[in-house]
Amino acid sequence: MTTITVTVNGVRHTSEVEPRLLLVHYLREHLNLTGTHIGCDTSQCGACVVHVNGVSVKSCTMLAVQCDGAEITTIEGLAQDGKLHPLQEGFWEKHGLQCGFCTPGMIMAAADLLKRNPNPTEEEIRHGLEGNLCRCTGYENIVRAVRYAAEKMAAMQAAD
Ligand code: FES
Ligand code: FES
Repeated sequence: MTTITVTVNGVRHTSEVEPRLLLVHYLREHLNLTGTHIGCDTSQCGACVVHVNGVSVKSCTMLAVQCDGAEITTIEGLAQDGKLHPLQEGFWEKHGLQCGFCTPGMIMAAADLLKRNPNPTEEEIRHGLEGNLCRCTGYENIVRAVRYAAEKMAAMQAAD
């Protein structure tokens, strides 16, 4: 066993983990943060995307021990002060989901995309979400949801 300390959604945790434990299992099984989903065993679906030190990663491709000392954000950490993140609102408003299984990973990947490119074109959104698979929606409303969030975030920034 190895001891790791991570900050997840602003809360510090020190845990004993097996060196082979994947980050996704650490989040779900040790911290009960089950918003991060497991949709495949081939690192393809993106349902498990979280942010590690501000960068989106597929948490099924990382070991928990690699995150020692890291700041991690999961879908549970996105809403602030009880207010949905503009992306969460966008997926709600534009109905960017059906079963919802891919949604946490889609939103976390989109959050990273908007940080790097606050005003993406439709093509850039589709490109940015290439690593995330949705089996239900046909992606149209997901793209609209990301556009909604980009516009809302720009308006919020302009109002600041
Ligand atoms: S569960 Fe990580 S990419 Fe599918
Ligand atoms: S909403 Fe069902 S997999 Fe995307």
